Amino acid sequence: MRVVDEPIKLGGEFVQDPHELYRRLRAEGPVHPVIMPRGLKVWLVTRYAEARAMLADPRLSKDSARARELFQTHATETGNRAVFASALVGHMLNADPPDHTRLRKLVNKAFTARTISRLRPRIEQITEELLDGVAAAGAVDLIDAFAFPLPMTVICELLGVPTADRDQFRAWIHTIVSASAADRLQADSAAMAEYLIQLIGEKRRSPTEDLLTDLVHVSEEGDRLSEAELVPMAFLLLLAGHETTVNLIGNSVLALLRDPGQLATLRADTALLPSAIEEFLRFEGPVNIATIRFTTETVRVGETEVPAGEFVLVSLLAANRDGERFPDPDRLDVTRPPGGHLAFGHGIHYCVGAPLARLEAEIALGGLLRRFGNLAFDGEPVMVTWRESTLVRGVESLPVRVS
Ligand code: HEM
Repeated sequence: MRVVDEPIKLGGEFVQDPHELYRRLRAEGPVHPVIMPRGLKVWLVTRYAEARAMLADPRLSKDSARARELFQTHATETGNRAVFASALVGHMLNADPPDHTRLRKLVNKAFTARTISRLRPRIEQITEELLDGVAAAGAVDLIDAFAFPLPMTVICELLGVPTADRDQFRAWIHTIVSASAADRLQADSAAMAEYLIQLIGEKRRSPTEDLLTDLVHVSEEGDRLSEAELVPMAFLLLLAGHETTVNLIGNSVLALLRDPGQLATLRADTALLPSAIEEFLRFEGPVNIATIRFTTETVRVGETEVPAGEFVLVSLLAANRDGERFPDPDRLDVTRPPGGHLAFGHGIHYCVGAPLARLEAEIALGGLLRRFGNLAFDGEPVMVTWRESTLVRGVESLPVRVS
């Protein structure tokens, strides 16, 4: 059995350059004890084979009630997730079968590739309108002007959430996924819950044509979502629906601007776009570390025994740069054969929204390349600032010039 080292504390430096640490950790072993920025003690899995296995291992649970108890014993300082509004917690990403199976079945149909393909004309229209604005400005922060409003508008329209409210809940969600905003976590997550309770009440009183109304009235073989299940479901879809895709668009453009040869290859053959998107997902996916899991019994990861009742976090970024699985992993290669990356997770919690995310990215990046023969950093090649989060991997802003 491997003797484990002292836990490493993950902080701001890690968020700005996780790959440096991941390279070292992967070389040393598949799993390591670390302390997360909000003070939680966990085991971090960094190698591809073990990451994939852990994501699908039924001995790793996501049950929110038990996880909440464990938070108390594994937090090394205050500001951990125990203060998170309980009304938002009970969604499918925090559940095991059979609850997970049931909750997922209720939304599955709305997110199949076929259902989602019907959104194409509307996504194209939103994209063109946003790109008109980008063209008129000439120089923009691509995140604010394009990468954020596109998926946010799409998910708001799909769910039936008033777009006028979006700046408000963008700020709440920012706090919720932030590694450092522990002081505002309680208030902002409570505000988010209250907002969704009101909105769901309105959908019940006056049904509209949208997914949230459908979920209020959904019936799958007589099954229904309770009030206590609706709020977290709406929260998960809203959060997952835009916090991730914005960063797929942003990280892809950043990767291309940093590697003009790859940008030229993609421009020369835009038929490469679907597989290039898989490479962007592998190279710098929008989720750094997957959501929390805990061991229900002793689990052996490589040579290390992780005891029962310990948190295990799987780093998708680290796994996707494992040289054992992907040759020359730190090189962006838009012609790389697609497949195998873990950016959408793996196993029963594999991303429900993957078809929507892929469609949005294809339309967004395709539109950008078609409309603008020149796409460059605005000014000196920028030193980007990455978001202060261990969950979300994306830049704060991306100043570009287009023509
Ligand atoms: C590029 C964009 C996206 C990425 C990289 C992504 C990534 C992920 C990952 C890694 C997971 C699994 C997390 C874990 O096992 O800990 C997940 C789950 C999930 N995602 Fe996404 N996601 C994206 C877009 C979306 C969109 C557009 C939606 C739609 C609303 C969505 C909805 C969900 C839901 C509901 C789950 C939970 C599934 C379950 O527990 O069974 N995601 N996503």
